[in-house]
Amino acid sequence: MKKIIALVVALAFVLGLGALGFAEEAKALACDKCHKGDKALDKVVAAKKIDSAAGLKKAVKEGPKAKLHEKVTDDDIAAAAKTLKLK
Ligand code: HEC
Repeated sequence: MKKIIALVVALAFVLGLGALGFAEEAKALACDKCHKGDKALDKVVAAKKIDSAAGLKKAVKEGPKAKLHEKVTDDDIAAAAKTLKLK
């Protein structure tokens, strides 16, 4: 009986982690919808020499493409900064 409980707990844990990973990915996609291929976010960020989360936010909200980013939320930008490992 104990073994079964341990198995169920382990399974729930793995599934939970999987769901978390999935949520992270879904967030990153808010940018990836438009930023793919040549315009992938990591390439844009490197080309614009953006090296901080604040810099990223400024480029998105106040940059020449701010109008395209009207629907982008602060959460999206924060998630993108995290994915890009910006501080
Ligand atoms: C509706 C489509 C769309 C979405 C969603 C979008 N972008 Fe963009 N973004 C663009 C386009 C188009 C450009 C211009 C690309 C170019 O100049 O080649 C751009 C340019 C940029 C630039 C460069 C700005 C500059 O200074 O020229 C940054 C940084 C950027 N996006 C970040 C983001 C981040 C971060 C997200 C998600 C939080 C995001 N974008 C979501 C379409 C989008």
